[in-house]
Amino acid sequence: MKKRIAVVPGDGIGKEVIPAALSVVRATGADQSIDFTEFDWSADRYLKDGTTIPSDGFAMLERDFDAIFVGALGDPRVPTNIHAKEILLGMRFKMDLYANLRPVKLLDESLCPLKNVKPSDVDFVVVRENTEGPYVDSGGVLKQGTADEVATQEDFNTRKGVERVIRFAFDYARKHGRKKVLMSDKSNVMTFAGGLWQRVFKLVAVEYAEIQSSHMYVDALCMHMVRDPKQFDVIVTNNMFGDIITDLAAAIQGGLGMAASGNIHPGKTSMFEPVHGSAPPFAGKNIANPIGSILTSAMMLEHLGFTAEAEKINAAVLAAVQQKKTTQDVGGTLGTKECAAWIAETVSKS
Ligand code: NAD
Ligand code: IPM
Ligand code: MN
Repeated sequence: MKKRIAVVPGDGIGKEVIPAALSVVRATGADQSIDFTEFDWSADRYLKDGTTIPSDGFAMLERDFDAIFVGALGDPRVPTNIHAKEILLGMRFKMDLYANLRPVKLLDESLCPLKNVKPSDVDFVVVRENTEGPYVDSGGVLKQGTADEVATQEDFNTRKGVERVIRFAFDYARKHGRKKVLMSDKSNVMTFAGGLWQRVFKLVAVEYAEIQSSHMYVDALCMHMVRDPKQFDVIVTNNMFGDIITDLAAAIQGGLGMAASGNIHPGKTSMFEPVHGSAPPFAGKNIANPIGSILTSAMMLEHLGFTAEAEKINAAVLAAVQQKKTTQDVGGTLGTKECAAWIAETVSKS
């Protein structure tokens, strides 16, 4: 049976990097075994007819697709960001994609802004909790617009949610031969939520005796990530800290244009997207780096069982980076399309 992938290019550079990545997927030949269906959910669609995602959208994605490939959502013409919230956060929350897996790998020394850091020094993954935290958008405003205004934003942490993402991190480590899992929080200040994370982390770690477990406060983690990224292997953290540290992590692997991610619930339809956003100032100029999306497509192929095809893509991306067949943000001179075409050609020859 063919695999079915829903494609949502979205806004801004999403409309460029997703077709670019799909051209690379086609070059592997995997498309012979995949049906792609494109959806126009985006700011354009929202501004046209008020649709963010149709009411049966999530059920349809879960029922009719094996994976979802998303570009980016966010457009200055929709200042409330309502469509991005409903589509992107909707998929993460309503489809219960609880583990946001964000690999951080430096492909070439020239891409790292840190001194004397080699590719072997930056090779870890962040497992970000993806369905809870302040992202549940619970809170409120009192006396808005007055000097007495009060705003609250609640941070949700459930035993079930914390435990399953920590378990995911340990299972991932075990499956991928990783030796260490580090949990990061701010339990010295956020004592209630942090207390739950601390207790559950210790309980789960016992079941994975062969894997070294440790803890770091998230502020210290940021400092260590810049000073000595080599120490990290698997990092598990909450939704908000995971968001922040993966932009920092992207920077040490060459920038947001290089970072890939998967939003995963084992056994369910999962969603794959580059870490970057729609980068409105870059949109429509053929300058966005397609590699984040290309590496994301490889993650998705691997998830669907196309392991050899995924490896070919990763190898071709490595060659592109080493030979500077890339966009300007990572030292090359090519446009989005030309970079993707070079990678696709390298894949077809391999
Ligand atoms: P952004 O990731 O879109 O861009 C930030 C900067 O990163 C850019 O100015 C650029 O310098 C660099 N960058 C990002 N992607 C790049 C690429 N492919 N190639 C080269 N350089 C790249 O973040 P932002 O400017 O904070 O947000 C813009 C919009 O995107 C907002 O509406 C935001 O909410 C949205 N957003 C969406 C997602 C998503 O859909 N997953 C993620 C982040 C931001
Ligand atoms: C990301 C983005 C999103 C997030 C935004 C666009 C809602 O920054 O995927 O990292 O905060 O999760
Ligand atoms: Mn982010």
